[in-house]
Amino acid sequence: MNCHLAPSILSFDLTNLRESVSTLVSNGADIVHLDVMDGQFVPPITFGDSYVKALKSAANAVYEAHLMVETPERQFEPFAAAGCTRIIFHAEATIHSHRLIQTLKSMGVEAGIAINPGTPVEAIEPVLDMVDIVLVMTVNPGWGGQSFIRSALKKTARIREIRPDVLIEVDGGIDPKTLPEARAAGANVFVVGSHLARAVNLAEATQELVRLCG
Ligand code: DX5
Ligand code: ZN
Repeated sequence: MNCHLAPSILSFDLTNLRESVSTLVSNGADIVHLDVMDGQFVPPITFGDSYVKALKSAANAVYEAHLMVETPERQFEPFAAAGCTRIIFHAEATIHSHRLIQTLKSMGVEAGIAINPGTPVEAIEPVLDMVDIVLVMTVNPGWGGQSFIRSALKKTARIREIRPDVLIEVDGGIDPKTLPEARAAGANVFVVGSHLARAVNLAEATQELVRLCG
C-alpha cells in the first residue's frame, strides 16, 4: 500500500507558510495537514478556511482539514469551498458520525474520522466501511510537539485488520524513530509537525521521512 507524508503546518512559522508548504511538497510530501481548532473541542484556537485559500496556490497537494472542533459539520462547506478535498472530523465531536460521513461524500469530499487516544476502535466500527481515511491520534489533540502514545498502535493494527484497503493516518509525535513503528502497525499516512518545523534543513528532513515512508 502506498505511504504518504502529511506535514502539519501547526508548528511552522505562520509568516512564512507558503514557502514552507512549497518546500515540503517539492521534496515529496503529497498532503498538507491543516489542524483546525476552535478553543472548545480543544483549548487552543488556530485558523479558519481563509488559511486554505491563502495556502492552496503555494503547492499542488491534497489539502486535508483535521477538524478538532465542536459541531464539525458547520465547517464542511467553508473548508471544501476553500480547497480541502479531504475533511476529517472527530468521532468524539458528534453523535451523528454516520450522517456526517454521508454528507461529506455527497459533497464529493473524501471523508475521514478521527479517534483520540482514549477512544476505542469499537466506537467507529459501524462506519469503518464508509470512510476514505481513519485518523488515529497518537497524541491528545490540541498541541504540536507532544510525545508519541505507543498504545494507539494496537488500534491502528485492529483497523488495518478490519479494513485492509483504507488509508490509516497517525497524527502526533511522528518522527524518524516512531514513523517506522507506526508503519509496521499498519499506518500508511504520517502527519509530522514539529519534527519538520524545527528542522535545520527542511528539504533534507522531508526527504528523510519520505524515504522512511517507503
Ligand atoms: C495535534 C494535531 C497534530 C500535531 C502534530 O492536535 O492534530 O497534527 O500538529 O504535531 P507533532 O508532529 O508536533 O506532534
Ligand atoms: Zn492533526
